[in-house]
Amino acid sequence: MRPSFYAIAILLLLIAGTGPARAAQPAPTLRPQNMRLPGGSATFPGTDAGARATNAYCLMCHSADMVMNQPSLTAQTWLAEVNKMKNVFKAPIPAEQVPVIADYLARIKGPK
Ligand code: HEC
Repeated sequence: MRPSFYAIAILLLLIAGTGPARAAQPAPTLRPQNMRLPGGSATFPGTDAGARATNAYCLMCHSADMVMNQPSLTAQTWLAEVNKMKNVFKAPIPAEQVPVIADYLARIKGPK
């Protein structure tokens, strides 16, 4: 007899053997849990065009705190960062708003 016959026979025995054993296990108990995630209600400060654009386009995926806790960056680096959000992470930022946001971020979170 070919060895594959034994392989199939053992496989069938294993399947037959695990079926009833699996059915005998008690069902896991699932209980709903409540949790409170930290709130992220902070917005970027100010009311000028830069603040408005940054609040409009930068808060849909992460918090203002997350951006403000980054190191201070130059205007050029903020521009690259905003472009990265737009091009890599697909943030729906209109092209003409990209420099507005980068200038604003360099003002509030640039090297002093
Ligand atoms: C479409 C979702 C989305 C939007 C909108 C978005 N980001 Fe992000 N951002 C991300 C993701 C994803 C990361 C990476 C997070 C991680 O690595 O944990 C990130 C990370 C960052 C970081 C951390 C440094 C880095 O490069 O990873 C900064 C700063 C940042 N975003 C700034 C901004 C600013 C400013 C805007 C508005 C122009 C913005 N983001 C809008 C998705 C977004």
